[in-house]
Amino acid sequence: MMRTTHAMEDPLDCLLFDPALPARHVRASYEADLGETRAFLPSRVPLGELPSVFELYVSASMQLPARFPAERGGVRSWLERQFSHDDPAVLNAIPGLDDAERDRLMTVLAVLGHTYRWDCVPPAPDRFEERRISLPPGIDGPWTALARICGHPRVGTAWSLHLCNWRMTDRPGGAAYRPEELTADNVRVAHNWLLPPADVHLERFSTSFVLLEARGAAVLRHLVDTVEALGCRRPGEALASLVHLQAAMMAMTTAFSLNVRTRTVDPAMWRELVQPTFAWSAEADVPGRLEPGPSGSQLGTIQALDAVLGVAGGSSLDEQAKVGRRYMPKPHRRFLQSLDRAGPAIRDVVRHSGCEELTEQFNGCVAALSSFRRTHQARGTQYLRSSQTGSSPRASTGLTIGVDDDAVATFERTMTARIAETEAAKLASAGQPGPGEPTTCAETDPAPPEGCSHPRPQGSWRG
Ligand code: HEM
Repeated sequence: MMRTTHAMEDPLDCLLFDPALPARHVRASYEADLGETRAFLPSRVPLGELPSVFELYVSASMQLPARFPAERGGVRSWLERQFSHDDPAVLNAIPGLDDAERDRLMTVLAVLGHTYRWDCVPPAPDRFEERRISLPPGIDGPWTALARICGHPRVGTAWSLHLCNWRMTDRPGGAAYRPEELTADNVRVAHNWLLPPADVHLERFSTSFVLLEARGAAVLRHLVDTVEALGCRRPGEALASLVHLQAAMMAMTTAFSLNVRTRTVDPAMWRELVQPTFAWSAEADVPGRLEPGPSGSQLGTIQALDAVLGVAGGSSLDEQAKVGRRYMPKPHRRFLQSLDRAGPAIRDVVRHSGCEELTEQFNGCVAALSSFRRTHQARGTQYLRSSQTGSSPRASTGLTIGVDDDAVATFERTMTARIAETEAAKLASAGQPGPGEPTTCAETDPAPPEGCSHPRPQGSWRG
């Protein structure tokens, strides 16, 4: 009775009573908001072309490698000359671009904006002190206009600087592809701003984000199947989906670990020449707010897992993940929001299922997420430690590590806290109620759930 009154007071709350509704919403958003690839990746291979009015931008971005290294003099004064005024023809062309063209232009502008911000690599130490960047009008105008249309701050994001900045060696821009077709052999960075030999290290680092989301496509497929099966109370199917989900997560972690090895991406090269340009660490279009660059906190698959598995807790990385959504494409934010809504109800279904096997498998997926985080922690520490003696200061792209911090200690501490939060998402095994849970569910149907071979003695499948 209490519940009915409550539900009438808050219409959204009634969703929690029937987990099928938010679960169906997740399915609908997955199909509508994640494009043809059903991944946090573009629907087609990113375009190689843009309408001719943007030619100056594309050709400038191609010239960056020859000018950006410190020994070549840097790019600021050159870009100031090239883009000394805001061209109305360029501004007028922006609203008519289709999504793929917008993504491509955003990548080009973000590459120009970020290289301008640092002028050269390694950056001069006083660049790290700069909080206001006065961009040339011809970059500022279109970048600001496009960011407004895309609905995020005017700064490079994981989407613009990693997830849309690639091409395939075996097909043209605009071609269809399946995420599982993307490999380290056929994916190349589209806009590189470094000269050999550093260009290869930038390419491997940046495409490792693309490949993570490519492997993430299978994770998302099984995650959505899991949510739907649990929401619609199909335990046998949910169990099978959770098994697939865990396997897909492990495959994603293995790929991450292989793609980010010190013999693939050299730590010294990474620190001195690759990493600095991805940071922003200054204001953009919101006065007084420092903006991050494209950090891992803007990666959709990890955010999706956190939402469904219930990873929260208020650590700095938890906060950063929330902020990270601001920099993601709107449809991706919508999908993650649908998972936020479904997550608590879905976990309640597992919690009250009385099925030990289901709880264990759910916890197996939480363990797989911890394992990704441990692997990332080990890799990150390796990079920060082996590049500690470099000449330039550093700030992490997501702003967790400040220029004056002990990078390794800060990184270790924040990652350890996030791993602890992840572990805390594990559900108490059936028969052992977690904090605040009812001690019995015997008031409902005592029949074991269909497809569950390990029912809790007096428990039941209930949602
Ligand atoms: C190779 C050296 C790397 C280092 C030193 C490193 C460092 C960091 C740092 C400091 C953060 C906190 C946010 C920030 O301040 O930027 C972070 C977050 C994150 N990074 Fe990395 N990262 C590295 C590579 C990668 C790669 C290649 C990926 C993905 C392909 C990745 C995925 C993530 C994710 C998902 C987070 C969010 C934290 C979490 O959910 O646990 N990182 N990383």
